[in-house]
Amino acid sequence: MQAPTDLLARGLRDLRISVTDRCNFRCRYCMPVEVFGPGYRFMPHDELLSFEEIVSLVRIMVPLGIRKIRLTGGEPLLRRGLEDLVAMLAAIAGVQDIAITTNGVLLAHHAEALALAGLNRVTVSLDALSPHIFAQMNGVAAKVERVLAGIQAAQAFGLPVKVNAVIQRGVNEGEILPLARWARDHQVDLRYIEYMDVGETNGWKLDEVVSGDEILSILAQEFALVPRLPAYRGEVAARWAHHDAQGEVGLIRSVTKPFCKDCQRLRLSADGKLFTCLFAAAGHDLKALLRSSADPQRLANLVIAIWQVRDDRYSEERGQVNRQKAEMSYLGG
Ligand code: GTP
Ligand code: 5AD
Ligand code: SF4
Ligand code: SF4
Repeated sequence: MQAPTDLLARGLRDLRISVTDRCNFRCRYCMPVEVFGPGYRFMPHDELLSFEEIVSLVRIMVPLGIRKIRLTGGEPLLRRGLEDLVAMLAAIAGVQDIAITTNGVLLAHHAEALALAGLNRVTVSLDALSPHIFAQMNGVAAKVERVLAGIQAAQAFGLPVKVNAVIQRGVNEGEILPLARWARDHQVDLRYIEYMDVGETNGWKLDEVVSGDEILSILAQEFALVPRLPAYRGEVAARWAHHDAQGEVGLIRSVTKPFCKDCQRLRLSADGKLFTCLFAAAGHDLKALLRSSADPQRLANLVIAIWQVRDDRYSEERGQVNRQKAEMSYLGG
């Protein structure tokens, strides 16, 4: 089967699968508690794709180009039996890389089973080491020690760990250097993320974005960094190595240096909708077809048709377009 390209000649390579829209954190930049409070209606369980349904879709997408899979949420470790899904995905020929993005609080309990199931690596979101700032940012007073224990457990079971830190002005710029020191000491690849205008609920303002250049100049106060070449086409993070080669840091600069040109990412929401961009207004329903017909060819044709008309490049157009965007906790990070 011919792997499709989109209207900007981009292939299809990464599939990010959200397995739940729920989370045990309420990070202000993602799920502010005023919106995602006790009355918030999350997806009912029967709306979620089953593991078997997810696997059928991945099998259909591998011939179309998908090689990398990332499990996200919400918080993916809230989905019961996630290890089983990892094992099922690891058994699919052609899937080269399976990663998970987690807040890390439940990771210590799951690390061994995930590693045994065939997970390749883990990305943990960690915005601050200061207990006070961390508690404030996660919105539920979760303790940073639990996340650190999760990271340690993952490493102990042989899983390479990356850490993502979203930097927001007036909130955690002071954590940039402490995070870099800690990551260097703990064999963790650290990536700083520019705060983005995903969704409609976080009240994003441009002046709250700490730019990649600013982050670099703060790092330069203490570290000598050497730029690295991209590891693969379309890599999200630009990376720098420490001069003594002990670890590296990355910047994900969606606001100041968009990387849409090579974006090969497709997102599958927990209720089976395909999103061709993190900033898309709506997804394409695959679940309806999946549940009404088991014909893989019809599903493959639908995915191809969706990809072939894709022209998304939101980060490059930011400021020029105004659209209602889906929440990241729903469509996956
Ligand atoms: P690696 O395979 O480890 O390099 O991971 P990745 O580059 O896919 O990075 P990861 O999944 O950890 O994404 C890190 C963060 O970058 C996400 O949480 C988002 O905040 C942001 N990000 C990832 N993909 C996109 C994208 O397609 N567009 C934009 N604007 N931001 C993205
Ligand atoms: N801007 C940048 N990154 C965000 N994330 C969630 N919301 C935002 C935002 N508004 C990040 C999380 C996590 C990943 C899933 O996405 O910190 O690392
Ligand atoms: Fe949960 Fe991650 Fe969103 Fe924080 S950023 S609320 S941990 S999904
Ligand atoms: Fe891809 Fe959309 Fe992100 Fe651009 S903004 S990199 S098109 S997901």
